Amino acid sequence: ARRAIISPSLLASDFAKLAEDASNIISLGADWLHVDVMDGHFVPNIAIGFPIIKSLRKALPDVFLDCHMMVQDPEKWVEPLKEAGGSMFVFHYEADIEDYEALIAKIRDNGMRAGIAVKPYTEIDETIYDLIKKDLVDMFLVMTVEPGFGGQSFIEDAMPKLKKLREDFPHLDIQVDGGVKRSNMDISIKAGANVLVSGTGLFGQDDAEQIMKEMKAGIDE
Ligand code: DX5
Ligand code: ZN
Repeated sequence: ARRAIISPSLLASDFAKLAEDASNIISLGADWLHVDVMDGHFVPNIAIGFPIIKSLRKALPDVFLDCHMMVQDPEKWVEPLKEAGGSMFVFHYEADIEDYEALIAKIRDNGMRAGIAVKPYTEIDETIYDLIKKDLVDMFLVMTVEPGFGGQSFIEDAMPKLKKLREDFPHLDIQVDGGVKRSNMDISIKAGANVLVSGTGLFGQDDAEQIMKEMKAGIDE
């Protein structure tokens, strides 16, 4: 069976007590932490940067940091993320990338896993299929909101391509990010997602532990 992975988005945490919120959500059952890095160009917002990630890594030496890089020039940020302590570098297919294989090689040479993200309405094309078939993609992220902000509504239109991807690649880690919560998690799980990101659906919820349990149970079924 595919493993169920819950990756709460720190964007919805209280940054004034980031380490506390982060370790708390881990103790409630989260597997990874989802770290949203924005550059104000690829998306019209700025979020968590490298000094913050570095502090977080220091506070939580063993946690897996799933870093969602919403940046225009991913190549430029591979080494900074590695130095800050990132575990996985998920770049956007829509960013400025001359050579996908070279970028992935650079990420892996820096000791991180490499993931590819697409926005809700970006097609999963042949280039992406080739990269997956060559075993160059450690995780594939299908965005279910337009990247840039937490707390938006889940875009179900992204599901058909996810479903097709799951049919074609039964063992690939497929992540959904954006508007995922208890009330709609079944849609993503049914389509084949096994890595769920949730920000406002977990942080500040009294029953985050129970929600994560239900998410995992849904995936494991
Ligand atoms: C949006 C980010 C998401 C966001 C999700 O650009 O990529 O990770 O934090 O937050 P929710 O779950 O609140 O939509
Ligand atoms: Zn994200």
